[in-house]
Amino acid sequence: MSADIIDGKAYAAGLRERVAGLVPAFRAATGRAPGLAVVLVGEDPASQVYVRSKHKATVEAGMESFEHRLPATASQDELLATVERLNADDRVDGILVQLPLPPHIDEKRVIATIDPDKDVDGFHVVNAGRLAVGEEGYVPCTPLGCLMLLKDRLGDLSGLEAVVIGRSNIVGKPMAALLLAENCTVTLAHSRTRDLAGVVRRADIVVAAVGRPEMVRGDWIRPGATVIDVGINRVPGAEPGKTRLVGDVATAEAAAVAGAITPVPGGVGPMTIAVLLRNTLVAAHRRAGVPLATDAI
Ligand code: GUN
Repeated sequence: MSADIIDGKAYAAGLRERVAGLVPAFRAATGRAPGLAVVLVGEDPASQVYVRSKHKATVEAGMESFEHRLPATASQDELLATVERLNADDRVDGILVQLPLPPHIDEKRVIATIDPDKDVDGFHVVNAGRLAVGEEGYVPCTPLGCLMLLKDRLGDLSGLEAVVIGRSNIVGKPMAALLLAENCTVTLAHSRTRDLAGVVRRADIVVAAVGRPEMVRGDWIRPGATVIDVGINRVPGAEPGKTRLVGDVATAEAAAVAGAITPVPGGVGPMTIAVLLRNTLVAAHRRAGVPLATDAI
């Protein structure tokens, strides 16, 4: 048996198209495009690549992109002042401060300064709280993207056993909350979990978000399970000096047992930016008081 490959790249492209298709009606209703502001502090090469892709995707969706680049030496007060200006700017519906920030800046303080109703990353404690109690808010892009892939594959998730590996605020915890809201029986496993392989073997749904290359092995997977691999790990390649990307799951082994699995790359990765655009479109409608059927996206 060999698992179906869940094509996150194709799903993300479709989502981006659906979002772009809804922008003209928003423009017609409000006289402006939805706006996303991205703030980058410093010159971290990976962050620069992410910010460039976010800008390109935003413009391609017909939205307005505001980029704010501060030097690595910028003070915390300068960054907080930038966030406050964006909070007050009516053209800006979504604010994303690219992480990680330089060590002299308090990440929590910066996130807490973002207006929760413009927090399209869903990192503000107000949005984490809204998710925990089932109120309307913003959900972090990566776990929401994982949920979309799962529902696309499985339909109703009610009653399924879901095991999430990794308890980060950005992926593991919101993923567990989302699956619980879909009526799954959720186990949130982590580095101290006893008999992790045994726990994972119970799961109809496995979401791996630990950041350890190929940690989840094929014999951990229950036959027919759906496996979502959030990991993006760079490891030494076959040739000296070359590297390759692997997930948190040993894909070939797991694919021999699973019903469906996301590849790395091309699985969860492309979903993050697509969901960011979706969250920005939703924020624009909510802020302008224009109705939007969110089940259409
Ligand atoms: N750095 C890497 N991924 C992300 C993300 O989704 N949001 C933010 N703000 N920073 C990141």
